[in-house]
Amino acid sequence: MSEKRPVEHWSDVTELASTGEILLPSDPLDRVLGQNEAIQMAKIAATQRRNLLLVGPPGTGKSMIAQALSLNLPVPNHEIRVVKNPENSERPLLEVLDSKEVVREEDLTAETVGTLLEPKKAPANVAERLGFRCKKCGAYSSPHDLVCPECQTGKTSAAVNAPFADLFGSLMESFNGQPTLAGKDRVNTTRTLPDGTEETIVFERAGEYIRMLDQKSLEKRSQLQGTKNKKILVKLRRNPFVMATGSSETELLGDVLHDPYGGHEKLGSPAYERVVAGAIHEAHEGVLFIDEISHLGNLQRYILTAMQDKTFPITGHNPQSAGASVRVDAVPCDFILVAACNIQDIENILSPLRSRIIGNGYEVLVDTVMPDNSENRAKYAQFVAQEVQKDGRIPHADIHAVEELIKEGRRRAKLDEQSNSLTLRLREMGGLIRAAGDIAVVDGEDIITAEHVRRALKRAMPVEEQIKNKYGSYTKGLSKDVSSAQKEKSQYYFQNEHVPDDSMFN
Ligand SMILES: Nc1ncnc2c1ncn2[C@@H]1O[C@H](COP(=O)(O)OP(=O)(O)OP(=O)(O)O)[C@@H](O)[C@H]1O
Ligand SMILES: [Mg+2]
Repeated sequence: MSEKRPVEHWSDVTELASTGEILLPSDPLDRVLGQNEAIQMAKIAATQRRNLLLVGPPGTGKSMIAQALSLNLPVPNHEIRVVKNPENSERPLLEVLDSKEVVREEDLTAETVGTLLEPKKAPANVAERLGFRCKKCGAYSSPHDLVCPECQTGKTSAAVNAPFADLFGSLMESFNGQPTLAGKDRVNTTRTLPDGTEETIVFERAGEYIRMLDQKSLEKRSQLQGTKNKKILVKLRRNPFVMATGSSETELLGDVLHDPYGGHEKLGSPAYERVVAGAIHEAHEGVLFIDEISHLGNLQRYILTAMQDKTFPITGHNPQSAGASVRVDAVPCDFILVAACNIQDIENILSPLRSRIIGNGYEVLVDTVMPDNSENRAKYAQFVAQEVQKDGRIPHADIHAVEELIKEGRRRAKLDEQSNSLTLRLREMGGLIRAAGDIAVVDGEDIITAEHVRRALKRAMPVEEQIKNKYGSYTKGLSKDVSSAQKEKSQYYFQNEHVPDDSMFN
C-alpha cells in the first residue's frame, strides 16, 4: 500500500485515486470542516481555560468541536478519592493526589503480585484488547506497534460514533510521557470456579508480558496500596470529555447511594463507599459538555454555582434515603463548560449562566456552509476518509464518488440559500456516505463509486418524497394505503381534502 498523505499534499484533489490515501490530521480540531471561528475560539478556550457556547443547527459539528477541545487540553493531573472519616462516618474525607503520587503508588505494588504470562498464553481476546494480538490476522506483536506488522491493520480500536476514538486511545496511552501503545492498559474478565462462583480476573500490560491477577492477588494489591477505607471517586486516567445530559440531578451533581442498613458498621456498606461523583466532578480539569443547555431548566443554577466555586459538595439527593445525611464537602470540579443549543433556545438559557459564559468565554454561531473552493473540496475528501474510518464497516471512496458528494454538498448549500458553497450539515452527509458504502458492500465491491453515491441519494429521499414519486402526489399515496374510514379521520384529510358540506354552516 502506498504511504498515506494529508489532503493538503495534493495540489488538486482530483489527483487522488481513493480516500484511502488520505492521512487524517492528528489534531482533532483539524478534522472539523469549516467552522473557522468556532475552532479558533475552541483553541483559545483550551489554552486560556475559557467557556464556550456554540449555537446552531444540528449535525454541523458542535459536539465534535467540544470533544476536540477536550483533547487539546493537558491530560488530567489529579485523582480524587474519598476516605473513611474515623470520627464521623457520614462526613467522608477528601484526598486529592497528583499523577506522580498515583504512579508511585502503582509502581510500588505492581511488581509484587500476580502472574506474568507470555502474550500467546493469555486468552486471545485479552491479548487483542491489550494490543498484543491483531484482531484481523491474529499475529502477535508488541503493543508498541500501532499497526500489525503482518497485515498492516491498525491495532487501536476505533469505536463507532466517537469521532476521535483513535486519537483518544493514543492520548490515554501516551499518558505520563510513556510511549504510545496499542490497546488498553487493563482488561477485566470473570471466570467461573469449580464451585460455581464467579471470580474477577484482571489482565494488565506489563512491558512485553501480560500480568494476570486473580481475586487473591487483587486483594493483596489493594492491601498493599492501602486502598482499604478509600474509594476512587474520579480516576486519574479518565476521559477529559464529559457529556451531561441533564436527565437527572444526581447524574450531574453526584449522589450518595441508599443503604438499607443505614451505613451500619457491620451490616451496611460504609458511607464513603456509597459516594458517587457527578458529571461536574468527572469533568474536573476537562470539558463539561452540555447539549441543549436550555433543556436543563433549573439545574442550570447548580452549574452556575459549580463554575463560580470550582468545587461542589456531594450529598444524597433522595431525602428518604440513608444517603441524605452523608456529605462530602468541596469536591473539586474545575471544568471548562462547553454548551450547545439551537437558535430558538437561546432565550431559555438562564441569564446569569449566560453572562458567566460570556464573562469568561465566547459565544459562537456555527456556520451551515463553507465556500466552495479547492481547499474545501479537498476537505470534503478528508471528511469521507474520516467517516469511513469512524464507521469501520464501509470501504473507502474513489475520486468520482467524492465529486458526486461534493455536487450534493453544493446542492444542499443552495437549499440553505447559499450559492458557491458546500453544506456543513455534515451529519446528514455522513449518512449518505454510509448508505453509499452499504450499497458497495452489498455489491461486494471494495470501493465506493459515483454510481453507489447516486443510488444512495435515491435511497436517502425522505419518505414523503418517495410517496410523491410513486403515486404522483402525497394524497394519492395516502389513499392507496388507508381505508376510507381511516382516511377521513386523518388530520391530513381533514385539513386538505375534506370538503365541508353546506349543512355544516347552516
Ligand atoms: N464540521 C464538521 N466537520 C466534520 N464532521 C462533521 C462536522 N459536522 C458534523 N460532522 C459529522 O457529523 C457527526 C455529528 O456531528 P456533531 O455531533 O458534532 O453535530 P452537532 O452540531 O453537535 O449536532 P446536534 O446539534 O444534533 O447535537 C460528527 O460525528 C461528524 O461525523
Ligand atoms: Mg451534538
